[in-house]
Amino acid sequence: MDTFKPTGLELTVQSLLQGLGLLIGAYWTGWIVYTRVFHPLAAFPGPFCASVSRAWIVRSVINGNPHEVQKRLHARYGHIVRVAPNELSISDPEAVKTIYGVNTGFIKTDFYLAFRAPYTRYPDHFTSTDEKVHAQRRRIVNGVYTMQSILQSEPYIDQCTDVLLQRLGEYADDETSIDLLEWARMYAYDVIGELYFSKMFGLMKAKGDHLGIMKSTDTLIPAMAISAVMPSYLRSFFMLVGVLFSETRNALSALNDLATAAHSAVQGHVQNSSSDEGIIRRVDIISKVFKIHQDQGEKLDFQIDDVKLEAFGGYFAGSDTTAIHLSTTLYYILKNPGVHAALNNEITQATQRGNLSFPHVSYHEASKLPYLSACIKEGARFHPSVALTMPRQVPSNGCQISGKWIPGGVRVGINPAVMQLDEAAFGDDAGEYNPDRWLKPDADKMKRYILQFGAGSRGCMGKNISLCELYKVIPELLRSYRLELISPEKNLETTGFWFYKPASMGIRIFRK
Ligand code: HEM
Repeated sequence: MDTFKPTGLELTVQSLLQGLGLLIGAYWTGWIVYTRVFHPLAAFPGPFCASVSRAWIVRSVINGNPHEVQKRLHARYGHIVRVAPNELSISDPEAVKTIYGVNTGFIKTDFYLAFRAPYTRYPDHFTSTDEKVHAQRRRIVNGVYTMQSILQSEPYIDQCTDVLLQRLGEYADDETSIDLLEWARMYAYDVIGELYFSKMFGLMKAKGDHLGIMKSTDTLIPAMAISAVMPSYLRSFFMLVGVLFSETRNALSALNDLATAAHSAVQGHVQNSSSDEGIIRRVDIISKVFKIHQDQGEKLDFQIDDVKLEAFGGYFAGSDTTAIHLSTTLYYILKNPGVHAALNNEITQATQRGNLSFPHVSYHEASKLPYLSACIKEGARFHPSVALTMPRQVPSNGCQISGKWIPGGVRVGINPAVMQLDEAAFGDDAGEYNPDRWLKPDADKMKRYILQFGAGSRGCMGKNISLCELYKVIPELLRSYRLELISPEKNLETTGFWFYKPASMGIRIFRK
């Protein structure tokens, strides 16, 4: 019988593979010993796999539940957990000021680069990692985002609310239930359309995502979030593989349509600015940003492409974030009959006293309602719009967090969806939606622990847009309609791919 004898070439390949295996084994043994024993973070607790490889954190984001995992880990290990070889998750509310305060020297990490649009002249505000460049570019447009400036756009928000109320009226008459999240999204997207693209996207009118833009963010944001937590050298490969899928290609094509819409909105301003007659001057955000370009473009190096980038920034940062804040706040109001009754009562009384105008409630009027204000603040605390750690790099001279010394260069960050449930900061009932906590005499102290809109110099630029929408639309909705959750006994299911997205929330609508 013939016995199998490997040829010389086969023997060489075999020994090469064995050598490679040994090399990889030796590398990993050395790496594990280093990360577990000699690494500056070796003493910090956390899952074994997280301490030796970023694959652990990538997996938790792929699973869409990093907030749940981190809640469990912090309950077990305390305020500091090692979630990657060089990264710590922090849940201590006192660390907000240290990490996100003004001039603390903590800078955004390369996590944010995964969210950056390619080929821009300057990085957009959100993904900019150079603090000097960021401050310079943000200063150019800061004035556009003050509450005083946003309130000049109230009529555009009112137009969107009119469409929303009309549609809800139709559903009430047809006795058709709807998904609150879906309608909050269409509303928030249409408002961004009004403010940045000079007209609604028409989603509410079409009763659906006829442009595919909501679907596009649903595809792209999770991919970006997964890419953001993986080592930067793997990102291009990951994104390249993503493009092989038709869903990703469709998402990119919807974004392309959006780019065309931004182009024509800006082009409209260019044409208007060159002719003096028949111009309807809008006071929306894109017009104001365009005016900066027109008046000081050369001096500030603020070109047409920068105006368009501003529209894209508003679209990505301001649509789903606002929709989540609005829908979850409404959801928890409806889920808690006592809260719902108290808020309805406040709105009815204010309306009867003539303190809430018809047909549109102004932001100034609504912001004077203490219970409404408490409901909105509690919504931001209990269900923030972001459920992923917002990572920063510790300055080179290190820092002290939660009584522990953390060396420079390490990544640290807080996940708002985890930290904002801290009982020491918010009380024993932090795990419940309770607006009353914001009506107590020293409630303002809790504000410093809220990361819903970020904090410090990298805090949210569009906060006033969202607050203006929420303060106005909630009383307008509740005084026209009685809303009812279809399954109030069920807990809200969520995913956390950067956005803390609730699953669908079925509601029934009745005219009042
Ligand atoms: C409820 C609605 C919103 C929420 C919860 C929200 C949340 C946040 C958070 C948490 C950050 C900080 C991110 C970080 O540090 O990693 C941020 C930054 C930012 N947000 Fe918002 N946002 C909202 C609405 C908007 C809107 C309407 C806009 C429109 C312009 C916007 C534009 C931005 C920008 C440009 C930044 C980056 C700021 C900078 O680094 O200079 N956001 N937002």
